[in-house]
Amino acid sequence: MTLDLFGEDDLQQPARIERIGAQAFVLRGFALPWVEAFLEAFDAILLKSPFRQMQTPGGFTMSARLSSCGALGWTSDGYGYRYSPLDPLNATAWPDMPAAFFEIADAAASTAGFAGFVPDAGLINTYSPGAKMSLHQDKNERRYESPIVSISLGLPAVFQFGGFGRSDPTQRISLFHGDVVVWGGVDRLRFHGVLPIKPGNHPILGEQRINITLRKAG
Ligand code: SIN
Ligand code: FE2
Repeated sequence: MTLDLFGEDDLQQPARIERIGAQAFVLRGFALPWVEAFLEAFDAILLKSPFRQMQTPGGFTMSARLSSCGALGWTSDGYGYRYSPLDPLNATAWPDMPAAFFEIADAAASTAGFAGFVPDAGLINTYSPGAKMSLHQDKNERRYESPIVSISLGLPAVFQFGGFGRSDPTQRISLFHGDVVVWGGVDRLRFHGVLPIKPGNHPILGEQRINITLRKAG
């Protein structure tokens, strides 16, 4: 329950922080001040490294379409999941990580108790209605000391946040435009996923959800 301590004026409300694990948090609306900078950054990133559908080693096609920025980009094909310094589409470096990504990474991680987070991998996923992300662990990174900072934009999603085994029970958390999830420390290897996105039209992003995941991979 949210107590109405500040009257009607939403602007007076403190940012809401919800704890979903010992070291895992949802920061409601945390990304809103950066949205314009993100949209500008997407234009430049996607011109060089457009969204593409990837194959999984198991032979499936992922329903979300992916791009990346920063020193390392996460990729998947028939041979496996890995980080690569080159975009396999054009065999050149991924676009630079925009300043706004470094800023929000540091701010959100600090708010969640992880000071000094500097990501080197910025994954950008776009989900059309119906697209999903199956339960998985983020474990292609070299170390697990840094947290994951995951930003939601556009259409809402139901995020599944589970345990350390694939079939452990999951919390279902609705994520909205501007919400940021941070998990690290003892929660770093929790299974997580996204249920199929419901059809809709977001006033800024249209018929899609975009997720930015910031990680230290190298
Ligand atoms: C991911 O775990 O790769 C994406 C999560 C999300 O889209 O919220
Ligand atoms: Fe993930």
